[in-house]
Amino acid sequence: MRKVILYIAASIDGYIARPDGGIDWLSMVEKEGEDYGYGAFLASVDTTLMGRKTYDDVLGFGGPFPYQKLSNYVFSRQERGPDDNPVQHITEDPAAFVKKLKAGPGGDIWLIGGGQLNTVLLNAGLIDVLILSVIPIVLGAGIPLFGGQPKEAKWRLAGHQAFDTGLVQMKYERG
Ligand SMILES: NC(=O)c1ccc[n+]([C@@H]2O[C@H](COP(=O)([O-])OP(=O)(O)OC[C@H]3O[C@@H](n4cnc5c(N)ncnc54)[C@H](OP(=O)(O)O)[C@@H]3O)[C@@H](O)[C@H]2O)c1
Repeated sequence: MRKVILYIAASIDGYIARPDGGIDWLSMVEKEGEDYGYGAFLASVDTTLMGRKTYDDVLGFGGPFPYQKLSNYVFSRQERGPDDNPVQHITEDPAAFVKKLKAGPGGDIWLIGGGQLNTVLLNAGLIDVLILSVIPIVLGAGIPLFGGQPKEAKWRLAGHQAFDTGLVQMKYERG
């Protein structure tokens, strides 16, 4: 069965973006020659999942769409017209869709976020692995890692790594 991996960065207080969606604070851990395992992770997946707001933010960064070679699914409650990028817009219930996707052929699946989509898939028990990079900052307010009403879920620590920039990366598997 394909695995869904939530690979994401959050502040110490559990936010993935400022209240206005800003992710400028991620740059505080940028370091020449250090990608925190991102390149290897990206090479290990063949599919991405995004909430519509996260997709719009990715488009807002400018430049070419970064996941051209992957199968990309964007979840929204609204129909959306044709897209210049290699993404499929899905209006079906995300949990039902991802359940089918996991049971089909293919490699591991990167759940990019954001917080709303994370909760839908968490509550449906569809996230297998959580790779969380904690950035050493308290934002005080923002968009939570799990928005809405996440259900309690226990996780097992499967690995961890601390970096001299202060970033700590934890790998959790569903307990
Ligand atoms: N720190 C990081 O590593 C990281 C990673 C990813 C994202 N982010 C940030 O997170 C923010 C976005 O997170 P977010 O929680 O606000 O939004 P999100 O999860 O990216 O997207 C929310 C949208 O997804 C759709 N959606 C949500 N639940 C749905 C459901 N049950 N069925 C169908 N569609 C559903 C809706 O789209 P419609 O409104 O179109 O119906 C909803 O508005 C952005 O600022 C992004 O930059 C940060």
